[in-house]
Amino acid sequence: MIVAIDGPSGTGKSSTSKAVAAKLGLSYLDTGAQYRAITWWMISNGVDVHDADAVANAAGKPVIVSGTDPARPTITVDGVDAAGPIRTEEVTSKVSAVSAVPEVRSLITELQRSIAKGAERGIVVEGRDIGTTVLPDADLKIFLTASPEARAARRSGELKGADVHATKQALIKRDAADSSRKTSPLAKADDAVEVDTTDLTLDQVIECVVTLVEEKRGQK
Ligand code: DC
Repeated sequence: MIVAIDGPSGTGKSSTSKAVAAKLGLSYLDTGAQYRAITWWMISNGVDVHDADAVANAAGKPVIVSGTDPARPTITVDGVDAAGPIRTEEVTSKVSAVSAVPEVRSLITELQRSIAKGAERGIVVEGRDIGTTVLPDADLKIFLTASPEARAARRSGELKGADVHATKQALIKRDAADSSRKTSPLAKADDAVEVDTTDLTLDQVIECVVTLVEEKRGQK
C-alpha cells in the first residue's frame, strides 16, 4: 500500500501523514525534509543557492539518509543528524530555490522511489509532487488544502507565537515558488482525493485519511 499525500505548507500534511502511517503500521517518508537537508548542506558548504549551476554541480555530493519509522522519523546528511538544522528560517527561505533545480529533483526523486520500493509494509509519502511525479502509481493519492489564513495560523502556532501576517506572506511566497517552478511543481494529481482541512481538527483529518486508506485496502 503506497499512499501519496501532497499539498502546500500548513495544511497539516506532516502531522497527518505520520499519524496515519503509525495507526496503519506503514512506514513514513517526509520528502520536504530531504529538500531541506540538501539545502542545509549547500548553505553549510558555501554554495550560492541562487546559482543554479553551482547547486546542480554540487547536488550529488551530500549523502542523505531518511529513517522511515513514523514514531521516530530521522534525517542525516553525511552521517550527521540534520533534524534540527533543517528547520531554521534560513533553510526555509532558501529551500524553494534549491528544490527548483532539475538535478536536485532527479537525485532526490530517485532516492524517494527507492525508499518507497523498499518499504515492505507499505508507506505514506508526503510532499508536493508525489502523486504527480515521484509515485504516479500510488494506491491512494490525497491532496490536502486549507485557506491561507488557516495555514498561516497553524504555522505561526508551530513557530511559537511568530507574527501571523508575516508568516502568511512568507508561506504564500514559498507556495507560489513551489507551484510555478518548471520541474515537477506542487500540483494535485488528476486522480487525487482533495481534502480541505480549513475547518477540520487534526484528528478529523487523520480519521478522514485513515478511512480512505482502509476503503482502498478493502478494494485490493
Ligand atoms: O514540506 P516542507 O515545508 O518541509 O518542504 C520544504 C520545501 O521542499 C518546499 O517549500 C518545497 C520543497 N519540496 C518539493 O519541492 N517537493 C517535495 N516533494 C517536497 C518538498
